[in-house]
Amino acid sequence: MKLLLLCSLLMIGALADDYVVNTRRFPKDFKFGTASAAYQIEGGWDADGKGENVWDTYTHLYPEKSNYQNGDVACDSYNKWQEDVDLLVGLGVNTYRFSIAWSRVLPTGFVNSSNPAGINYYKKLIAALKANNIEPLVTMYHWDLPTNLENLGGFINPEIQEWFVDYARFLFKTFGDDVKNWITFNEPKQACEFGYGAGVLAPYISSPGIKDYQCSHNLIIAHGKAYRMWEREFKEKQGGRVTMVIDSNWFGPASNSTEDIEAAERNMLFTYGWYGHPVNFGDYPEVMKERIAHRSALEGFNTSRLPSFTEEEKQIIKGTVDFMCVNIYTSSLVNAIPEPKIVPLSPTRDLDIGVNVFQPEDWEPTVTSWFKVVPWGARELIKWISNTYNHPEIVVTENGYHDNGTVIHDLETRGRYHKLYLSNMLDAIYEDGVNLTGYMAWALTDDFEWQYGYNIQLGLYQVNFTDPARPRVAKDSASYYRQVVTTRCLVDNDQCTD
Ligand code: BGC
Repeated sequence: MKLLLLCSLLMIGALADDYVVNTRRFPKDFKFGTASAAYQIEGGWDADGKGENVWDTYTHLYPEKSNYQNGDVACDSYNKWQEDVDLLVGLGVNTYRFSIAWSRVLPTGFVNSSNPAGINYYKKLIAALKANNIEPLVTMYHWDLPTNLENLGGFINPEIQEWFVDYARFLFKTFGDDVKNWITFNEPKQACEFGYGAGVLAPYISSPGIKDYQCSHNLIIAHGKAYRMWEREFKEKQGGRVTMVIDSNWFGPASNSTEDIEAAERNMLFTYGWYGHPVNFGDYPEVMKERIAHRSALEGFNTSRLPSFTEEEKQIIKGTVDFMCVNIYTSSLVNAIPEPKIVPLSPTRDLDIGVNVFQPEDWEPTVTSWFKVVPWGARELIKWISNTYNHPEIVVTENGYHDNGTVIHDLETRGRYHKLYLSNMLDAIYEDGVNLTGYMAWALTDDFEWQYGYNIQLGLYQVNFTDPARPRVAKDSASYYRQVVTTRCLVDNDQCTD
């Protein structure tokens, strides 16, 4: 074990230089797709009876928080959805991951309102995908909470659990005959840590170490309750599968010392395990419960800042993912450090974890400070998920490369990025025995990238956001992805091995 670890540590510096791209083909039924999210592409923010969501409201109130830009029009996919479907058909993908905007179908957020035009929009999109043999993989919630619900406390109010169950029931009823793969929540960590902890994503609430945990707690129970409702009311007649999308860096040990190995594992448990453990095993990782309870006590709290699940809630949330999902972008290394000081007035999740996380200077950069290109980390991450959760089926529901959006000839950047990450996934499938069944490239088109506005882009197709017609133009990475999807292979077809 130690030797293996040392070998992989030695690889770290060398990165991709001496790495040989895997020439095997992906399995025949592998799901290749692209991903998107409603607020990032649709536009039509107040069209045809849609209600406001937190991104509509807060980008208008605080434009400076997203680069003075917003998703009012975005890619105008609300009107140009047919063109997007044509792009997907052109790529040859068999899956499309997109999200439904809660307030487009239920303008108040509650089931006391419903919007026929919004419902019709998704009906048309789903029908067009299916007519082209593209399987919809639908996210119920990709960060766009109806403002009405946020005004009632949003994810901090435990009633969100029931509001979400009602919304999910409405979706199964309305779309469940056609949609068979459902994701309840996208990236709860980002939504809660940055929405209610650090306060850099809408609704911009800053309460680190407290509300980020409360938000996550309600969200996990909401997921569990929605899953149980689906099991009781829809599973038998509709079939299908339900899951949650969790994001994480790979956090590898910075050395092979026992302390660094333990610190890196702790960081994984506080990140992926924060959600992965409850939805698989019914509770938070022990190390999270212990450390947050301990530090909370020293800070003078009577109870832990990490809420605890009742026995009944544990039963509700345990075993509520039919397959596991992960969004992968980058990796970090982790050192052990002395226990951080107790700061009663400003606890944070980072202090709760109590490790040092960093990215070596010589790792390949992108335009974004936290985002280095680390293909081998993707393999380590999916191996960790596989080993930690008893070898489940895994789908990579997002992976993509940041640039400033001006580069059309991106074969050596974005194209190479997808190639190397996918190659490491082939290694995971064929050498590590991971049951990886799908890969969704983020994103089909350039889009509104939250706090970055339109300044960071990841699309396979470029969108001109200053042109009212929002034309889409294929980047070179789109041609490469088409080749990968159609041959199931990363190198030229005649060099592929079966
Ligand atoms: C989110 C996407 C986002 C992407 C690219 C993910 O965290 O799910 O909505 O656009 O990262 O940075």
